[in-house]
Amino acid sequence: MPASIVVGTQWGDEGKGKVTDYLADQMRFVVRYQGGNNAGHTVVAEGHLLKLHLVPSGILYSHLTSVIADGVVVDPGVLLEEMDTLSGLGIDVSRLVVSGNAHLIMPYHLELEKVTERHLGKHALGTTKRGIGPAYADKAARIGLRLQDLFDPKIFREKLEVVLKEKNLLLTKVYNRLPLSADTIVEDYRAYGERLRPHVADTSRLLYEGLRAGENVLFEGAQGTLLDLDHGTYPFVTSSNPVAGFALASAGVGPMEVDRVIGVTKAYVTRVGSGPFPTEDPGPDGERLGEAGKEFGTTTGRKRRCGWFDAVLVRYAARLNGLSEIFLTKLDVLSGFPTIKVCTGYVADGETFEDVPPHQSLFHRAQPVYEELEGWDESLSEARSFGDLPPAARKYVERLQDLAGVRIGVVSVGPAREQSLPVG
Ligand code: IMP
Repeated sequence: MPASIVVGTQWGDEGKGKVTDYLADQMRFVVRYQGGNNAGHTVVAEGHLLKLHLVPSGILYSHLTSVIADGVVVDPGVLLEEMDTLSGLGIDVSRLVVSGNAHLIMPYHLELEKVTERHLGKHALGTTKRGIGPAYADKAARIGLRLQDLFDPKIFREKLEVVLKEKNLLLTKVYNRLPLSADTIVEDYRAYGERLRPHVADTSRLLYEGLRAGENVLFEGAQGTLLDLDHGTYPFVTSSNPVAGFALASAGVGPMEVDRVIGVTKAYVTRVGSGPFPTEDPGPDGERLGEAGKEFGTTTGRKRRCGWFDAVLVRYAARLNGLSEIFLTKLDVLSGFPTIKVCTGYVADGETFEDVPPHQSLFHRAQPVYEELEGWDESLSEARSFGDLPPAARKYVERLQDLAGVRIGVVSVGPAREQSLPVG
């Protein structure tokens, strides 16, 4: 089992960190492959509840090397802050390596995202305002600054001055904001660079050598398939590619290394921010899912929108990512519903769809076709094997598996490792 990819099959927040925790013992590297500090997972470290946004959760395991790959955008201040918090708890962060090719989130990215989201008014995307979109935009426009630029002060200043000239014009003339000072940025970023220097490495080579030595690598995607820039619900997406294929492009690893793609799927669906969500339940049931599942964003604290399991999305994710198996999370949250709705297809403009409609307007108008499955009253959190689950919960899982067309390998019923139950 050389390389495995963990990918979210919905709109993020599926519980991908649980899978990392479940598989950590078998791994040697955990690699974060896209996004930035827009993501977030809550972990328990040395008895403390921690929110990590950028550092892979692999850092909590002393045998693992945690890697931030080339395709991630890095806010160096945030990265150092997380590293300091972890060090303060006695966790060794010397095993964290970051690609020198990773692009930097700069202060003007944050400033510009604030004003452009405001400018969009009711059309705002509801981003996490961490500068992700503007940083990826500059990368594509080839005016981004990379981590490696921090180690050549002349180049760093030169590149910065060219970019900042345009950004300051935008900030002052279009958005009526104050300009940013190149000197301050240079000073702050050079200090970040000095502290990060020991962690910067040729991560593609490191992984290549590890794989050649027969070591296992886990690629960890942030966000989820439906937030993918190319394959998600554009424009209500993030600015990177969470799909499994991008793990390879980002980390500079060839496709033949991967033999397992694990789709993480929540037993219901949530979404943060704007955009279509066919199975959203804005009524009391959705409210109850949100409360029982503690559905608040780790990064922004926003309340997540909640709704029913959508088999159309999971089939789509299975196809796009080439899933070999599904890890189903948060089944315990569904206890107590007399019946549970499952979306099997959509109807839009009188037409039935079993796959994501080919045009976004149809997706926006899609009405879910539901079947109702029998619920269960029992709490599931004490279950320690799939066989411990009540028959209705097992039937629910088996029906989701049929609808998804992919084997469900593990079902989780709570945050602890022993609450991940292998199926069959
Ligand atoms: P951005 O990634 O900050 O540009 O935000 C774009 C969209 O992706 C917004 O709808 C965010 O709420 C959503 N998003 C970004 N990161 C996450 C995440 O980790 N979980 C869930 N939604 C996210």
